[in-house]
Amino acid sequence: MSDVTTLRSRHLLGIEDLEPAEISLILDTAVAMKEVGTRAIKKVPALRGRTVVNLFFEASTRTRLSFELAEKRLSADTMGMTTSGSSVTKGETLIDTAKTLEAMSPDMIVIRHASSGAAHVLARVCRSSIINAGDGTHEHPTQALLDAFTITERKGTLAGLRVAIIGDLLHSRVLRSNALLLTRMGASVIACGPPTLIPLGLDRLGVTVTTSIDEACDGADVVMMLRVQHERMHGLFLPSVREYFSLFGLTTERLARAKSDAIVMHPGPMNRGVEIASDVADGNQSVILDQVANGVAVRMAVLYLLAGGDAQGEA
Ligand code: CP
Repeated sequence: MSDVTTLRSRHLLGIEDLEPAEISLILDTAVAMKEVGTRAIKKVPALRGRTVVNLFFEASTRTRLSFELAEKRLSADTMGMTTSGSSVTKGETLIDTAKTLEAMSPDMIVIRHASSGAAHVLARVCRSSIINAGDGTHEHPTQALLDAFTITERKGTLAGLRVAIIGDLLHSRVLRSNALLLTRMGASVIACGPPTLIPLGLDRLGVTVTTSIDEACDGADVVMMLRVQHERMHGLFLPSVREYFSLFGLTTERLARAKSDAIVMHPGPMNRGVEIASDVADGNQSVILDQVANGVAVRMAVLYLLAGGDAQGEA
C-alpha cells in the first residue's frame, strides 16, 4: 500500500513529476475503481457536479473512449472536442481554444496533442486541472500507469522484473513514460529497436539499449511491443515493412526466449505483421485487451485523485 493519500500536483503532465509513492497511490486506487466496473450499476458519485473536457487534437480510440467512460462512471459531466468539426480547422490556436473552453468553467481538461509540451502549456495558462493524454513524442502518463497496473495484476509487483520494450523507440511517448515509471518502481528495462529509431540520450532514462531483439527477449518477464509510427516518420527510417518484421517483429520463436510465463503487451493500435505476429498478439501470453480494460480503472483513479479524492474514498 502507498504511504501517501493524495497527489501533490493538481495536474498529471508526465510520469517525470510523480514520486514512487504517488504511482503506488494511483495503482492502489485503480484496484478499487476496477471493482466499480464489476457492479451491476457501474457508477459512483465521486465527480458529481464536476465538468471534464476531453480535447483531442490527435486521433485516438482507446485513450479518448476510456477517459470518457471513466468520467461517466465517476458521474462527471463531460464535453468532447476533436480537431475536425471545431474552430481549430479555422486556425484557432491551442491556447485560444483552451481559454474558450475554460470560459465554460470546466474542472479538468484532458488533452492529446501532436506537440510535445502541449499539456504543460495549458497547465501554465488554465485554471483547470490538466491531464496529459499524450503529447507528441514526450509522454503518455496514463498509458504507463495502466501498463504498470496490468503488469502488477499478473506479476504481483514491478520491482525486480525484466521488461523488454521493443520497436519504434524514437517516436514513442509510451516508451518514455514506461521507462520513467518502471525504473522508478525498481524494474529493469531493456529497450530495443533499429539504430535509426533509437533516440539520442535514451540511456539517460536508466534503460539498457540494444539493437538485438533476441537479447531483449532473453529472460524477459514482460515483452512490450511498440507501434511503428509511420505518421511521424518524415524520413527514411525503415528499409521496408518486411525487413522490419524479419529483424524486429515479435514471433512465437522470439517470444520463446522470454520466461515461460512472460506476458506480451502492446499499447495499440497494432500493426499486425509489422511489429507483432498475429498469433502472438492473440496468443495466451497476450494481455493486450487487459491493458484496454484496465485503462478505464486507471483513468478513473487519476480523475478521482486529481479532483481531490483521497485514499479514504472522499472526493
Ligand atoms: N494507446 C493509445 O494511446 O491508443 P489510442 O491512440 O487509440 O488512444
